[in-house]
Amino acid sequence: MNILITGGRSDIAQELVHAYSQQGHTLWVSSSSDEGLEKMKKTYQEKKLSAQFVKFNFKDPSDHTLHSFLGEKNLVVILNSFTRLPPLRKIHEYKSDKIQNEFQQNIFGNTMLVHHILPPMIEQNFGRIILISSVSVENGTTKYPTYVMGKMALEGLMKNIAVDYGENNIMANTVRLGIFNTSRTSKYTQDEKFKEAYQNIIPNGKIGDTSQIPNALMPLMDKNQYINGAVLNISGGLPMTKTQGILK
Ligand SMILES: NC(=O)c1ccc[n+]([C@@H]2O[C@H](COP(=O)([O-])OP(=O)(O)OC[C@H]3O[C@@H](n4cnc5c(N)ncnc54)[C@H](OP(=O)(O)O)[C@@H]3O)[C@@H](O)[C@H]2O)c1
Repeated sequence: MNILITGGRSDIAQELVHAYSQQGHTLWVSSSSDEGLEKMKKTYQEKKLSAQFVKFNFKDPSDHTLHSFLGEKNLVVILNSFTRLPPLRKIHEYKSDKIQNEFQQNIFGNTMLVHHILPPMIEQNFGRIILISSVSVENGTTKYPTYVMGKMALEGLMKNIAVDYGENNIMANTVRLGIFNTSRTSKYTQDEKFKEAYQNIIPNGKIGDTSQIPNALMPLMDKNQYINGAVLNISGGLPMTKTQGILK
């Protein structure tokens, strides 16, 4: 299959590329800038990861170089990109243009990507779309409002694609991740106090390792599968929490 993973520089994307290229799939990865593309190529070369490189930026979703990917057969798209948003604030503390910008990028950017990708999928009567979401949509997260709202909106898009295009053999599903150790989260996951606090509540007792993600996504990409519009948590049990030490 031809698998496009947006945000190819992310640790999660690299883990997926590593696993799926070993299985003989052709991997395509994007970065949002020319500079990012160059850095990504270098990283992939150093880590011996094999992929085709394309540019895709939420800010200008029509100006992408995905044409070569769209011309291929058996298209799978993993929507992994998402903006980083420090500093974290409550919703009333953000200026309105910041909120608008976040929605414009993540919601509109991902929607337009899917908008470009659906026609060739319809033509081929095959497509698999996977949204990388977060368990935070189930219970909220402190000072992360636009993230939770953006992921939830995109989960809505997955549901509607499932309904509108299921008969075209296009399956759209959501994967909600718990907390994984990546460069995005390292500020927290490398902090001993945070780690201990999290490990006390995660049912599995551990922060996730990115190597635990690829296998879980495979059934969603399978050619002969019947999973459509589903949500899968890869989270060590979150958002359920252990209450030992909190409740006697
Ligand atoms: N790590 C976790 O614990 C965790 C938990 C729940 C969900 N997730 C989700 O998993 C995904 C990957 O997470 P990660 O930890 O690997 O995050 P990450 O390192 O921040 O990766 C996000 C990717 O998004 C891309 N991106 C940022 N702005 C963009 C834009 N304007 N246009 C297009 N792409 C853009 C970045 O690529 P460039 O900089 O090259 O453009 C980057 O590679 C994210 O969707 C995240 O929300 C992660």
